[in-house]
Formats: sequence, C-alpha cells, structure tokens
Amino acid sequence: MESLNQDIENHYFKEDLYGDIVNRLKEQNIDLNKVKRSDIADADEFHVRGAAVSKELANSINLNGLDVLDIGCGLGGPCRMLAEEYNCQTTGIDLSNEYIRTADKLSKLVNLSNKTTFIQGDAASLPFADNAFDVVWTQHVQMNVPDKKAFYSEINRVLKVGGHFLFYDILKKEDGEINYPMPWASNANLSFLFKAEDMDNLLKEFGLTKEQSADQTQAGIDFFDSLVAKLKEFGPPKMGLNVLMGDTTKPKLMNLLTHLKTGGLELKSGVYKK
Ligand SMILES: C[S@@+](CC[C@H](N)C(=O)[O-])C[C@H]1O[C@@H](n2cnc3c(N)ncnc32)[C@H](O)[C@@H]1O
Repeated sequence: MESLNQDIENHYFKEDLYGDIVNRLKEQNIDLNKVKRSDIADADEFHVRGAAVSKELANSINLNGLDVLDIGCGLGGPCRMLAEEYNCQTTGIDLSNEYIRTADKLSKLVNLSNKTTFIQGDAASLPFADNAFDVVWTQHVQMNVPDKKAFYSEINRVLKVGGHFLFYDILKKEDGEINYPMPWASNANLSFLFKAEDMDNLLKEFGLTKEQSADQTQAGIDFFDSLVAKLKEFGPPKMGLNVLMGDTTKPKLMNLLTHLKTGGLELKSGVYKK
C-alpha cells in the first residue's frame, strides 16, 4: 500500500504548483492582493465540470454553517467554495503533500485560511475521531483506492448520526478494457474502478440511506465537447486543468470522454444520510 500511495502521489505531482498558479495570475495582470476564488476556480477544482458541479452538489442539501470534510480534496477549491459561500468550517485531506501545501497557500491568497484546514493523509485510514463531521464530501477520488470497504467505512465512521455523505464520481458502467492515461491514473495499476451498484450496496451495508442520486454523464459529455471546441479555437487556457496535467491533459481528457460516450464509464452524484 505504501508503494501504491507513493505511485499515486507521483502521478499527481507537479513541481511548484503554487508558483505556477501565481505566475499565471500575474500574466493576466491580476493584483495578487485582490485575488478572488473565481480567478483560480478553473484550476483548483479537479473534476469534470469543475466549480459548476460543486455548486450543484452543495445545493443538494442545506449545509449552511456545517462542519464539512472533503476526502481527496486536491487543491481545496470545493473547501474554499463551501467556506465562502455557505459559511462552512471545512477540512480537506489528501494523499498528495504538494496538493496540501498548495491548498494551504491558495487559501491564504484568497483570505479563507480561517475556515479551511488541509491535512496530508490517506482516505482509507482517516486521522479523525468517530462522528466528527456533519457532512462528508468526495469528488473523483475513490478510483485511486483499491480497498473500497475501507474507503466507505471510514466515511461512515467519521460522519455524525443524521449527517450527510455527498459524492460526485466516476464509476464503471460496463465490463471491458479501459484506455489509459486517465486524469487519475497514467496506467491501469493506479486505477480501481467499480460500479455504482457496488458502491450503493456497501453504503447500505454500513446503514446509510440513499436520499438522492443523479446521472451526470450527459452533462459531463456536453462539458467536454465544448471544452474540446474551445481548446481547438483558443489553445490551452491560462487557468485550467492543464495547470495540473500539463502536456498529458489532452490524451487524458479524450480517453475519459471516449469512455463516457461509449458507455464504459459513467458520472454519478448522490446524497446518503447516516
Ligand atoms: C482527480 S483529483 C480530485 C481532487 C478534488 N476532489 C477535486 O475534485 O478537486 C483526485 C485526488 O484524490 C487524491 N487521492 C487519491 N488517493 C487518495 C487516498 N488514498 N487518500 C487521500 N487522497 C487520495 C489525489 O491525491 C488527488 O488529489
């Protein structure tokens, strides 16, 4: 597991991400003392449909003022959105030291450090007490985690009774070969895709109740189609997922788009209650 986690951390690693983001802000003549969340939102939400889908997920329950844990928080964009727009106290945990360092600095940059805390750690073994959070949130993370039982049992353990688990995820729809690289895995050794019904069965086993579920696949395809058109016309944006994926952005996004279109993979979101 140690070496798998190291390989996953290496997969996501990009040197001096914060410095790169700051340079990109400067190139757009954005005053570093006045950076807004929207200036960095295209780079700090590492999932299909970025900030828009996070807002939808946030609006699926009333989470004003609640304590939220984001599992696999990446650069912390969703935590900052929940902190600023919903007055949540947020904690993000991620395997990547570089992402956690960057998340901390980005929160300082937009003056949200008092409402966001970022911790390096493994989702399969969370360093939090039982019943610690009102809401547990995760987007596009479990594909990197082989032990699904550990992943979802930890979510259940740290969630308060009466609290909500919110997810937005990439799931396997049909058996069959997957082409890599994907945004979460350069090759099949880092990827542990499973099906929505298996996730649902696991969560029910732990006693969670499904309250909402939505198929997000078509919305994801539409998003990618318009992104591809924009890339063709204007080239890579100053602030976008290319900040995180560099030269490999195009093959990764095209592989994901192809599998969404041909039905091998699907995008789903949902809400469960403990
Ligand atoms: C595709 S990114 C999504 C980041 C973030 N959830 C977002 O939507 O912006 C997947 C993230 O999961 C993290 N991750 C993968 N395996 C993990 C694990 N076992 N524990 C914690 N984080 C993990 C990666 O480091 C990466 O930041």
